[in-house]
Parts: sequence; structure tokens; C-alpha cells
Amino acid sequence: MTDPKQKPRRILVTSALPYANGAIHLGHLVEYIQTDIWVRFQRMQGHEVHYVGADDTHGTPVMLRADAEGITPEQLIEHVWKEHDRDFRNFSVGFDNFYSTNKPENEALCAEIYGKLKDAGLIATRSVEQFYDPVKAMFLPDRYIKGECPKCGAKDQYGDSCEVCGATYAPTDLKNPYSTVSGAKPERRQSEHYFFKLSDPRCEAFLREFTQKSGALQPEAANKMKEWLGEPGDSKLSDWDISRDAPYFGFAIPGTDGKKFFYVWLDAPVGYFGSFIHHVRSKGMDEKLLQDFLRPGGDTELVHFIGKDILYFHALFWPAMLQHAGFRTPTRIFAHGFLTVNGEKMSKSRGTFITAGSYIEQGLNPEWLRYYYAAKLNPTMEDIDLNLEDFVARVNSDLVGKYVNIASRAATFLAKYFENKLCESTNNITTEHVSAAWSVEIEDEVARAYENREYGRAIRSIMAFADKTNQYFDSNKPWELAKSGTDSDMKRLHWICSETISAFYRLTIFLKPVLPQLAKKAEKFLNTPSLEWADLENRPVEIGKYEHLMTRVEPKQIEALVAANRESLKPAAKPAAAKTTEKTVETATETSTISIDDFSKIDLRVARIANAEHVEGADKLLRLTLDVGALGSKQVFAGIKSAYDPEALKGRLTVMVANLAPRKMKFGMSEGMVLAASGETPGLYILSPDSGAQPGMRIK
Ligand code: 2FM
Ligand code: ZN
Repeated sequence: MTDPKQKPRRILVTSALPYANGAIHLGHLVEYIQTDIWVRFQRMQGHEVHYVGADDTHGTPVMLRADAEGITPEQLIEHVWKEHDRDFRNFSVGFDNFYSTNKPENEALCAEIYGKLKDAGLIATRSVEQFYDPVKAMFLPDRYIKGECPKCGAKDQYGDSCEVCGATYAPTDLKNPYSTVSGAKPERRQSEHYFFKLSDPRCEAFLREFTQKSGALQPEAANKMKEWLGEPGDSKLSDWDISRDAPYFGFAIPGTDGKKFFYVWLDAPVGYFGSFIHHVRSKGMDEKLLQDFLRPGGDTELVHFIGKDILYFHALFWPAMLQHAGFRTPTRIFAHGFLTVNGEKMSKSRGTFITAGSYIEQGLNPEWLRYYYAAKLNPTMEDIDLNLEDFVARVNSDLVGKYVNIASRAATFLAKYFENKLCESTNNITTEHVSAAWSVEIEDEVARAYENREYGRAIRSIMAFADKTNQYFDSNKPWELAKSGTDSDMKRLHWICSETISAFYRLTIFLKPVLPQLAKKAEKFLNTPSLEWADLENRPVEIGKYEHLMTRVEPKQIEALVAANRESLKPAAKPAAAKTTEKTVETATETSTISIDDFSKIDLRVARIANAEHVEGADKLLRLTLDVGALGSKQVFAGIKSAYDPEALKGRLTVMVANLAPRKMKFGMSEGMVLAASGETPGLYILSPDSGAQPGMRIK
């Protein structure tokens, strides 16, 4: 608390629950490290914080993987839990309780929530048609169905889109579909499902208030929700299917004789509360905490950190469920972007799909990564990039070259000439209290930046302070003062080294949320108990023996890390089961690199959209007439109708592939392709060159 009169805040913090069917990787760690930094910062401010998590254990993938490995789902989730727990400890992600969704506390809460929703008339049942695998005798999610693309006939395509021609379609459109689990031809069967009536006017009214007015969401997330909610009176909310048929690894829905189970996404967020209950009870804490943190009306906060891909669940389903079941709703939902490595999706074949376990095995220091992520993080939903060269340079320059260096240089003189003692703060030799002055300048700014998750900003201010300190030390030439040895020079030397160590002490406080282990070593060196934010008022008195605080990252270590994570480029076996659920991971069968010769085969050109119009009878296409300078005019059909009004495109510059073999389409010849970006979230964005580019210019 910067203001001592302020009452401590009481905050329950969560990070999204990792699935119990895969390893923690560097993409996951963006979130856990981000949350942990926030939690540590709040605690250093004197607030009461409970940080809980759990493995997300239920659902078809876990059930099928356990089956494939010849073990029970319980054995599988136990094994994965141990690995996850180890990884979090290694990266100092300090959960107060890291639990599992497959626990009695969670089951009881799910039953309570379901019962309340039912009593409120918010549960409905209706019949749903789904794929059924007659060999495995189970209903299968769409992603376990493959077949031939209805457009181009490519084999082994998933039920939503074709990886060969890019067509999108419904799973029922696939030709010759087969179950990826058993290979059998799937049947379509009806079954009764349970729905949470999100379309009910009570839910709609609550969600409009919650997403637009409560301040729980970042502005960009609130806008996205507005789109999803639609206009008042014309809501786009549809009821949410919360049940799955047996066999299913999950909690049976009360009153269904074990035939119906809660869909994993119903019990997953409830697992946040299950973990909190276990945290409170297992540690013998006051039961009143459960009322304070889980029920409405108190002054506690509930803060969720999540990835942008699961906003829908956390900003709509989850709060609506809580609101109508007598629980409190989230105070803040912080959504972040994904991780790219060297500017691209994490990739197994490139070796950039790096697991937390391998990072540790290769002997890399987890605090290097914590620092690098902090330096990159901001409060938006933009993706962040881990550039491996920049990682080496930044850690070495900032942490070793700037921060640690300050302590080692000043400590040498203090040990040699002053018995490790600092000048007293009242010492009146000089008025240069530079350390305190510089620290005061940035204290509020750094605190605000941590609070608002602008960690990159905090790090910039802190490093500017480190730079000033190093310059101060250098410009005073302590080695010359020591050489001269006169009384006044020695006094000055003492003062300069004391100020430098005081600056190091303050830098340690500022960096402690990010670098908890390094801070521990620094505290030992500074002879101080565990530092809090309020200790910025103080200064150290006597230092201990300086021991090396942090080593440099060697580029070779990064090479070894990438090599350890690189999958063989030999054609991989056809994946047996489902599409990966990792949004940022490419499949192992992709081609990892192309030569420059390969790239130069593509004739990319700047083109001006001379005309754009709808195509009668085409749902997705626009007809574009492109002016490609010396290459003349080309007609291209582009699947961008959902994203662009043709009028708005006319006159714009874009990028096209000019040497794509012409393709005869139902509507005419397509003589190339315009390039557009798309990701996991809705939206399609055509590319534009920078101003000055002219039609026909080559892009290389
Ligand atoms: O997307 C995921 O990885 C989910 N396992 C997150 C669940 S978060 C919460 F709702 F449990
Ligand atoms: Zn196709």
C-alpha cells in the first residue's frame, strides 16, 4: 500500500487451468508468470492475496489418451499434475494451492450451481444430433471426425476446414467421414442434451451490464463482447450446451442416472472456487473466507488472468452462471495475447515449441524468462514475441550488465576499505542523495505500471534508474579516489559506494515481483529481511560477502534448447487422434523451412484494387479487378466478403500472388490471389504496402 491509511485489498487471483493432457510450455508460462508477478507485487504492497489454480482434467481428450496409454484417466491426471506442479515451482509460479478439477469440492459446487440454475428455470433440455462412433460406442466431438474435403476432395481433412484448399464447411459436409479414434464410419445419432439458457432475458440483461458497465473487461474485450451480444432486443446469445453423454470423464449430472455428464467447460472455471475452498480448509483458515470471497456483497475482488481465446467462456458463460446461482461475479478479467517465438507460431519442427521441463533440463535460469516476458508484457490482447537472439542480448545487458554489475562493483570497494559498512544516511559529506532521489522519481510510476500490468513500462523505468546508477559510479571514478587515498577522497569513495549500494537495494525492491529468487540472494547480500514496497523508505547498513548473483545466457544454451525441442523432420506418423488444442502450435507434419529459391518462386506484387464487387450466388467471394502495373489487369476471386464492403476496397493497394496458375471457377477465371491475415479470433485482414508503393512493384 503506497498510502498507509488505505485498507488492504483482499484479492482472489486465478490463472486459467491448464489441460491435464499435455506439458506446460513457454506459451502457457506467459500467463502464469504474468499472474505471479501481479500477485507478488500486490503482496509487497501489503494486500491480502490468494492465488489458486488447478489442472483442468475432464473431457474426451483425457479419456481417450488414458485409454490409448492403457491407464485410467485418474492415473493420467495424477501423473500430469505432478509434472505441472514441478514446472510451476521451477518457474516460481507461487500458487497458494494448485489443485485439480476432479475433486469433491468441485463436484459439490457444480451440483449446487446446476441445482440453482434449474430452480431459476435456466436449464432446458433438447435433442441434439451428433457424430457417434459405433465401434467405440460413444458420441464424438467434431474434431475427432475426418474425411474428404467436399470442395477439392483432399483426404484426411478435419470437419471444419480444408488445409489444402482453405474451404470451410460443416462436419456433415465431409465426404466419406471416419472416426479418428477407431477408423469406423460415424453415424449421426440424436441424444438429449442439457442447456444453460443464456438467451433468457435475465442473462442478457445481466451480461450487458457486466460486460459494458462493470469495468471488469479491458476496453477491447468489452467491444468484442458487444459484438457477441448483438443489439438490445436482438441478442445473439444462444443457449449453451452443458451436457455430454456417457462415456465421458467428468461429473455426472445429478438426476440423470450417470448417463449425462457436465461438459468440461462447465466444471473448469468452477474449479477456481474448488481450489480456493481446498486452500482455505486444508490450511485451517477461517471458513468466513469462503463467504467473503465466493458470495456476493463483500468487498473482496476476484481477478482472472486468461488468454484471449477463452474470453467467451469467462466473460459470458461463467459470470452468468455465477450471477444466477447465488455466487459473486468476477471483478476483473485480464485477457492477454499468445506467444510467438522468433515472430512465428511455436513449432515442433523448428524446435520452438519449448516445454517448461526442457528449459529447466537444459540448465537455463527461469528468471531469465520471467524477466524477458516482463520486459515485453503490456495490458493489451496483442501477442508477444520471444525473439531468442533478443532474449540473450536483453538478459545479459539488463540483468547481468546493469543490475547485478552495480552490486559487484560497489561491493569490492566496500569490502576492501570500509569493512562492508555503508556511510550513515545522516552523513553530511555531500548532499548527493542520488539513490533516494532517483527512486522517488519512479516509485509511483513503477507501482502504477505493475498494477495495470504494464510490466514493459515498469522495466523501462527501472532500467533507466540502473543506467543512472552505473553512470554515477563511473563518472565519479572510484578507482582513482581509492588510488589517491586522501582522507577526503576516501570519504567520498565511501559515499559513492554507499549510494550505489542503496540504489541496488531499491532496484531489488522494484524488480522483486519479477525476480523473486534473485531478490532472495540480493537480500542476503544486503543483510536485510524480505523486502516489501514500504522498504523503499529505508537503506541498507552493512553488506555481506558478495557472491555471484546471476550468470550470463550463452547463445549455445539457446541452440541446445531449440535442438532438444526439435522434432525429427522425417515425415511424422499420421496423427491418430484429435487436432491439437494448443492454439499457437503447428502440427508436427508441417515443412519447417524453405530455401530462398523456393520463396523467390512466388511472384508477389503490389496491386491496386481497381474494382470490387459482389458475386451473384457466392457466399464468401468478392470479384476484384486488380491493376498490377506493367503486368496489366487481373481478375481475382477473394474469399473476403465477410470482412469487407466492396466499395471500401476500391482504390486500395494490396499484395497479390501474381504467378499462381489461373483457376477456372464457377464464376469465371481467377488469375491470382490477394493475401490476407487471419487468426484464431474472427476477422480477416488484407495486406497493404506502405505509402509510396506503386502497382506492379515486386515484393521480395
Ligand atoms: O483453454 C484451456 O487451456 C482451458 N483448460 C482453460 C480452462 S480455464 C478455466 F475455466 F478453468
Ligand atoms: Zn479442400
